[in-house]
Amino acid sequence: MIIKEAKFLMSNTKVELCPAPDKPEYAFIGRSNVGKSSLINMLTEQKGLAKTSSSPGKTQLINHFLINDSWYLVDLPGYGYAKVSKGAREDWRKMINYYFQKRENLTCVFVLIDSRHEPMKVDLDFINYLGNLGVPFVIVFTKLDKQSSIKTDSTIAAYTRKLRETWDELPRMFRTSAEKKIGREEILGFIEEVNTQ
Ligand code: GTP
Ligand code: MG
Repeated sequence: MIIKEAKFLMSNTKVELCPAPDKPEYAFIGRSNVGKSSLINMLTEQKGLAKTSSSPGKTQLINHFLINDSWYLVDLPGYGYAKVSKGAREDWRKMINYYFQKRENLTCVFVLIDSRHEPMKVDLDFINYLGNLGVPFVIVFTKLDKQSSIKTDSTIAAYTRKLRETWDELPRMFRTSAEKKIGREEILGFIEEVNTQ
């Protein structure tokens, strides 16, 4: 898919205030600092489109972008940031839960996982939560450029083993680096495929 146009539309905390649910929507989520906003900028080839930061917790709202006038891309706030207060974590949980349950045009969620780390409970819990909710999702391993491909293979194998303990069917998995532009064609190709189904 060629990205002809990518524009920021709005930021919200409420599903009711999001753009009209008249186009397929793809949402990006994952632990704080995993590289959600960087991946969105890499996919759209617009450096400053989604705000990135080296300190976690940068994205706080549901951010809608319109791509090629035909589908929505959504940057969601991350989870699992230790310094967040209990109240703020509960607010996040409520907002995200409501979004997943009520956003009728939500087509697929991209769950981002840092390819450098062994499976983390917070990520497995989140994947299992999405699976139980019945929301279609795929897994995106990020920051491939930070280590050897052997290490990436071992992380992916460990996640595969863990997920097999609970699920018969495994989600589709992508390998990416925002830094080195790895995985761009694969993800955009997947979105195009789903959009034309
Ligand atoms: P929050 O919005 O805070 O939840 O973070 P986020 O998941 O949107 O992460 P963000 O894109 O802001 O990136 C966090 C940090 O990781 C930044 O310093 C990025 O430059 C860095 N980063 C993101 N993707 C990559 C990558 O593929 N390779 C490398 N080397 N660094 C990356
Ligand atoms: Mg972000």
